[in-house]
Amino acid sequence: MIIYRVGNDLNLEDVIELYRASTLGERRPVDDSARMAAMLKNANLVLTAWDGNLLVGISRSFTDFVYATYLADLAVRASHQRLGIGRELIRRTQAEATQANVILLAAPKAVDYYPHIGFRQHNSAWMLDAGKQI
Ligand SMILES: CC(C)(COP(=O)(O)OP(=O)(O)OC[C@H]1O[C@@H](n2cnc3c(N)ncnc32)[C@H](O)[C@@H]1OP(=O)(O)O)[C@@H](O)C(=O)NCCC(=O)NCCS
Repeated sequence: MIIYRVGNDLNLEDVIELYRASTLGERRPVDDSARMAAMLKNANLVLTAWDGNLLVGISRSFTDFVYATYLADLAVRASHQRLGIGRELIRRTQAEATQANVILLAAPKAVDYYPHIGFRQHNSAWMLDAGKQI
């Protein structure tokens, strides 16, 4: 049975290990623990999924709770993928801020996932890369 929790009071090493075990760690700064600690501490809506004492999923978002929820990371342990955990993490993230739209950038491996579970593609999303001057 999978248990879901809200909150970012988590063991950093467990979180980094989960990012690696989901493959999302290939595109996140998992070797920079200070940066990962800040990513966890400063996110204001974090949901986790647990199989007993094992961390098996995380949804890490920034939200104002009334208009916009930016879902920065969604990761499910490879051994636990395709069991509905990712969808349930998003469902519970949305339930924490029911008036807010959930907005995200899909990782390459998840481009087909979000439309499959009900997201609509937005054709005017824009990104300013870190360090790029305007
Ligand atoms: C993408 C990810 C979060 C999905 O989580 P999950 O718990 O495995 O997916 P779910 O069980 O919620 O899947 C729900 C549905 O989507 C389908 N699905 C799962 N992964 C999919 C994918 N990569 N592409 C297309 N469909 C997918 C499932 O088969 C299921 O379909 P069904 O309802 O018709 O049976 C997870 O596979 C993961 O962590 N991947 C690696 C990291 C990553 O890419 N994260 C996304 C960052 S934006």
